[in-house]
This record gives sequence, structure tokens and C-alpha cells, in this order.
Amino acid sequence: MKNYNRWAALILLLAGALGISVMAKPASVTPDDPLLAAKQEWSLVGGDPGDTHYSSSSQIDTQSVKSLGAAWVSKKFEDGATSRVIPVVKDGLMFLTAGTRVYALDPTSGQVIWTYQSASGSGVAPGPTDLGAFAYSAFARENALPNNEGVAAGDGKVFVGVTTGHVIALDEKTGKVAWNHTISYEPPRSMAPQVSAAPIYADGIVFCNLESDEAYVGLAIALDGKDGHELWRFHTIPAPGEPGHETWPQNSNSWQMGASNIWHPAAVDPDLGLVFYGTGSADPIQGGELRPGNNLYTNSVLALDIKTGKLRWYYQLTHHDIWDTDIAIPLALYNAQVNGRTRKGVAAMRADGYLFLLDRETGKPLIPTQERPVIQSSLSKTSPTQPYPVGGESVLVSGENSNCAEWKDKIPAGFVLSCSAFTPSTLDPANVLAPSVGVRVQPMSFDPQTGYFYVQGAAGLAWRRRAKDPYFFLNGAHVPGLSKLSYTSLAAIDSRTDKVVWEKQLPPAAGLGSGGMLSTAGGLVFHRREDGTLDAYDAKTGDVLWKFQIGYVGSSATPMSYEIDGQQYIAMIAGSEVWSFRLGGSIPPRPAPRMPAPSDSGFVGPIADADSIAAASVMQMNWVNSVRYYIDDYSVNPYRIRVKAGTPVTFGNNGSETHEFAAVDGSWTTGPLSPDMTVTLTFDKPGSYTYICKKHPWTYGQIIVVDKSTSGASGAGGSAPGSQGSFADQAARGKAAYAQSCSGCHMADLSGNGQAAPPVAGTDFLAHWQGRTAGDLFDKIRTTMPTGNPASLNKETYLNIVAYLLQVNEVPAAKELNEDTLKAISLSK
Ligand code: HEC
Repeated sequence: MKNYNRWAALILLLAGALGISVMAKPASVTPDDPLLAAKQEWSLVGGDPGDTHYSSSSQIDTQSVKSLGAAWVSKKFEDGATSRVIPVVKDGLMFLTAGTRVYALDPTSGQVIWTYQSASGSGVAPGPTDLGAFAYSAFARENALPNNEGVAAGDGKVFVGVTTGHVIALDEKTGKVAWNHTISYEPPRSMAPQVSAAPIYADGIVFCNLESDEAYVGLAIALDGKDGHELWRFHTIPAPGEPGHETWPQNSNSWQMGASNIWHPAAVDPDLGLVFYGTGSADPIQGGELRPGNNLYTNSVLALDIKTGKLRWYYQLTHHDIWDTDIAIPLALYNAQVNGRTRKGVAAMRADGYLFLLDRETGKPLIPTQERPVIQSSLSKTSPTQPYPVGGESVLVSGENSNCAEWKDKIPAGFVLSCSAFTPSTLDPANVLAPSVGVRVQPMSFDPQTGYFYVQGAAGLAWRRRAKDPYFFLNGAHVPGLSKLSYTSLAAIDSRTDKVVWEKQLPPAAGLGSGGMLSTAGGLVFHRREDGTLDAYDAKTGDVLWKFQIGYVGSSATPMSYEIDGQQYIAMIAGSEVWSFRLGGSIPPRPAPRMPAPSDSGFVGPIADADSIAAASVMQMNWVNSVRYYIDDYSVNPYRIRVKAGTPVTFGNNGSETHEFAAVDGSWTTGPLSPDMTVTLTFDKPGSYTYICKKHPWTYGQIIVVDKSTSGASGAGGSAPGSQGSFADQAARGKAAYAQSCSGCHMADLSGNGQAAPPVAGTDFLAHWQGRTAGDLFDKIRTTMPTGNPASLNKETYLNIVAYLLQVNEVPAAKELNEDTLKAISLSK
């Protein structure tokens, strides 16, 4: 899994279908699946071993939900920590992780019963990101933090996966360590791969997964719950001599760097004696030429024997992945009626929004699938076909449903649209947009009463291009207006037909969405919206029946449910607090957070006060132990500038191609600008100019010309001496320090580096920090950044960097900042 929505492309037409594997059509769904036990207790993050995120509690139903209210809000977590885990409830206690600690709370009041601190270090708590385990900071990996994916409870213990590759069992009543083992390689190293999901406890076994082994291959691992000794481990890529290895090149070790990581908890069927895992994409993501073949068992559902770890069957959802179509949300087990017979099913969501429904005894599709030809790229050695469920509908958009039509007339000028998510990334043409593969991270839910799966996905278009360097994962493209075409899709899919029954288009969320789904026997589906409300939908129709403003729009979180003393509760984490709801709860809602307004021009990202623009910019990416570079001829740097009227602006060309920049309103042009040439233009009239390169009209930039008297902007007119100047000077010092210590990960334009580092400017960033102060931002940066070396700069430098971040995020201050004045600056714009 790398970033979720950018690539490059080649367009061909495709048609027809290949082999169809047909099974009888499922007719209905059994409501009494023994796996669906979550009611009083919710002892695993998904509620039950089948990971259905369903509660059979029905006290809160479509009628009574009107009187649902907040029963309690916990005290804030220690050290300002935030969390996105799903709490679990077992034996009258609620367990969760936040920052460096595991918490046990009273589920009727939120009172802290005990805490266990796993990190001996500074006690500093880095925040989670919406990207889950993958993006957890280097600090976390060195400091043995709970992995921010949640815990499992059972047989008197709480099982915790740790960022250094340890699994810890705590006594559920006291929080004392019962056992602590590393599942990582020996001898243990500080920067070990982390436990990459919440553990699942079933049949006396702790099922966990490690991000990768010493090479770079995903691992499923089973431990004995009593003492933690290892029962078995399964590598997700077959080694030489093992079946499946023939799907990798035989003359290279590309399989050893193939990733196939497991990012989500296992689903377990103790009756069948099988544990199911979904695997991620192959690495290097876009460099398919290094690994011709289907690359087993990447992007696959794996059924392993729970006693031995032997592979019983597999089903691959994407062959030879070059799109990052991981199985990126947890599998769910469900029961289906097929021809009057109960069939045990396992559901796997592909990141392009297609749901695959397989027989969990055999791996054969319950809804038939077919291999369909897809667009080819000889460079990336694409697979000729990819599987699709016959008659199935994507919860996003696709050529299959041809609702890609909704984008046909709206894409930014200079681009072309390809409706297949399997549009390969290519070098040329460099202007193809295709549906993104955005059904990720947030768990889906299965409701046996309706027979529907509920799922959230991020719909939108991605720029499909790649670098020549197979190791470079090209992302971070600037396309104005593209974000306006994105939305969050919330959908119900019928398990009997694989068709979308109802769908909601919600405003786009920062990152991968605002959270996963919970369904209940009360006929309800719960989901937190990006605007900070927890919503209850009618499970059958999708009508909104209830809303409650929690006042938090940060990292994603998924609700759960439990019963205690005859009361049903719905609970979820919101940032640094737990909220729990029950009928008659009387804690009032919080004020709605102010959401950053979308910009009219469609441009997003920081605006630089600069008077020179360079065609072509250098992108940088970390790959294992090296840093790789890519010169992007089709972007300008800075992408958005602000100048005072009358300022001469110089266009230079750092790249290898000739460009000709021109305002889209036709008011000016640079004329042909060959490599190494510069052209200077003066902008007299205030206004906002969008410009493109006439030769490569998918290259965009923006110049905002402001009135001469505006302070801050660069150029003619000068800024008033005194008050304004010193904040600007401080920010300028911060800019230099940022370039030195931060830009390697967060990028020079602050836009982040996919999953390696989040953006530190723009809408997503501000939404994340909404409601917090510049003082909180200072604390976060000073105590956790740069990752791996926190608190390594002096206080002044950190202050300067915060001033710079405030400036680019358009939250300027009147005076030079100090530690006190920072606290008074709210990050809401
Ligand atoms: C080695 C890569 C790396 C470097 C260098 C680095 N960061 Fe980060 N940064 C990350 C990662 C990964 C995260 C996400 C995990 C976390 O929040 O701890 C992050 C998170 C952040 C966040 C929180 C973003 C949010 O939305 O919550 C801020 C702010 C930040 N970094 C600022 C900085 C500053 C300022 C510097 C330079 C002093 C810096 N970082 C250096 C990798 C890096």
C-alpha cells in the first residue's frame, strides 16, 4: 500500500469476457450465523472473529434512536495523544490504546480503571494518521508504542501489537504484563517492522501479522494465547521451490522485495479451522517490469489452517498489481443461502470498489467471477486480464457501471479520461486521469438481517503517470479542480446480487475517509461524517434517522456497540476522547467545527510569496535505504505564488522540454521558454491568473496578484517596518529550517509524501488540526519531529518552523511568536 490516488496511463479500448467460473446464485442470508456473537461484548476490533462489525443488540432501533444521546465522554488521553482505534469491551471493561498507553475504562462511565505504558521513553505520543499502520512514525517504531490499531481481549488477557514487532499480553483486571514476545527477527533491532493490525484472539490463539520480514515480505503469525509461544508463521510470498513461486521472475530476487503486506486483522472461522487474511499490493508499486507474472500471493485472500498455518486455498483479486489495489479493508465472514443450503462466505473488497464473495471452505466464488481483458502496457508487463464479479457493481465508479460519465464533462482541460481503474501508469501520454482506488482502511460491516454489506470509499480521479525509475512511486500531482470531483461514497451492497442497493455521496474527506461502518440488529448503520457528526442510517434505505455533532474532524474512527446492565451503548473515539451513547443520554453535542472553505479556483496547497517560477520541479522519495529523485517536467514550482501588483515575475526552465506558459484567460504568455531560458513579465492588475503550458496543457500554475498595499506578499511596495515584519522574518527563518529538517519527508511544497509523511499545509492538514491551537502544533512538532530524531532542534527553530507553517496555511500572526502567544492562535481559519 502506498498512496491511494495517483498514477499514469496508456489508453486502449477493451471489450469482451474470458473464462467464467459459475456457481449457483445465492438467494438469501442466514441471520443466525454463529460467528455473529457481538452483543453484550465486543471483544475484538471487528466485534466478532468473522470481523463483521455488526452488533446483534437491538435496543437502539429505527424508532428509539430519536432519543439516543451521549451518556459519557472520557477524560482526555495523557500527553495530548489522539487515537483512531475501535475500543473493545470484555468482562465489564473497555480497552483501547492511545499514544504510549493501553487504557482500561469503565464502559458505563468512561472512568479510567488502569493504564499500561509500553514506551519507557519520553512519554510523547505521536498522533495516528488516517493511513493506519503504514504511516506510523519512526518515533513509534523506536519506542515500542501500541500500534494504534486496537487490541483483542479474551481469557482474562488483553493482547496488544507493538510498533517494534512485539506482542504483549496484559492481565485484563490489572494491566500487568502476562507475557511479552517479539515476533520480529532476531536479534531484535530498534527499527523493526511493526505489528501491522490489531491482534485477533480466537480458539486460544492470538492471530497477528508483521509488516514484513527481514527482506520485505508480509507475514501472518499465530501465537499461543497462554504464554505467547509461536505456533506458526506464514510468508505471504512463496519462496523458491514453493508452489506459486513461478509467478515471480526466476532469475532475480524481486519476490523478496515484493511486499504483499497484511494491513488488517485476520478473520477466523473456528468451526472450519481456518483463518483468513487479505494481502496488499506488490512492490515496487509502479515498477511492474521488475516482476513479470501474477506475483502470488499479493492482493489475495488466503485461507490458512489455524493449527498449522498451511495454505488451504487462495484467491487473487488483482494480478500483477501496478495500481496499489491492496485488499485494503478487513475481510468479513458471512453466511449465504445458496439453493436452499447454507454456504459459508468470505467477502473481500478490492480497492476499486468491487466486492468478491467467495465460499470460505473452498475459495470458489459464490457470485461468479470472470477474467476480463484490461488496458495493456508493455513497459509495466501488465496481466492481460483481471477478475470481476459478474453483474457486480463498484461502490466507486468504473467503466463497468459507466457512471464514470459523471466526470466526462468535468475533468480539467488538458486531461483525458480513462474509465477503467486498471488503466496502467505510463510515461507517455502524461495526461490521463482514471478512477482512483480509494476503498481503503475503513472497515466494512455485514448485517445478516438485510444481507447487505456497508462500506465507505473515497471516489475521485487519479493522475495515472509514472517515472522511468521503477522504484519511484510518482504521486503528489497538482491538478486544480480535481479535488472538487472527489466525494465520499457510502454504500450498501446486497450480498445476494453484489449490486449497490443504496448509495450516499458525502463531501470528500481528508485522507481516506472519516471512519468505518457499524451495523446493528436495531436496523441501523452508524458512521462518522467528515463534518464531525455521528450519523445513524436506516439500514434498509439509507435514510438518515439521527445525527449528533461530536465536534471533531481529525483522524478517522469507527463506532462499535456493547451492552451492559441492560443498556445498549454505541461508542467511538474522537481524537483524544471516547464518546459513548445510549438511549436518554443527556450530554449535549459540541459546536460544529468550521470546515476550511474550498477554494474557488480549484487550486489547493500552499501559496508562496515569491516572484520567480521554475518550470519542472524535483520530487524526492525514500526507497528502503536510498533517496530517489524524479524531475517532473509537467509541474511548476512554486505552484501558486502571490505578488503585489507591479512586480516583475521571472519564469525559468529547469527541465528538458520547451514550455510556453499562457494565462487561460488569454491575457498573457511567456512565449516559448526553452531549457535554461528565463522570461520576465510584470503583473499590474490585481486578480488571480490560472496559467497552463500551451505545449503540455496539463501543466498548471496560479499567480495571485494583490493590491500594492497588501503586506506579506513579495514584490513592489515594500512591507511596513515593525510589527508585520518580524512575524514574516520569523517565518522566513522557519522556511529555511523547514527546508533543512522537514522537507525531505513532507516535501518542499508541504504537500506530504504519500504514506511516508502527511501534508503539513492545505485543507487536509487544517481539518486535522481544527479546534487545536498553534501551541498544540508546536508541542507536536517539538516532541515528535523530525521522526527518529525528535526534540533535536532548539526551541527557537521549532518556533520559527511553526511561524512558517502558520504563514503558508494562511493563519498569520501580528507579531513574532513565542511559546505563550502560540497558545492563543486557533488553527481554525
Ligand atoms: C523522516 C520523515 C519525517 C521528517 C524528517 C519529518 N516528519 Fe513530520 N511526520 C512524518 C510522519 C511519518 C508523520 C505522521 C506520523 C505522526 O504524526 O507522528 C509526520 C507528522 C507530522 C505532523 C503532523 C501532521 C498532522 O496532520 O497531524 C507535523 C505537523 C509534522 N510532521 C511536521 C514536521 C516538521 C515541522 C518537521 C521538521 C522539523 C518534520 N515534520 C520532519 C515524517 C517526518
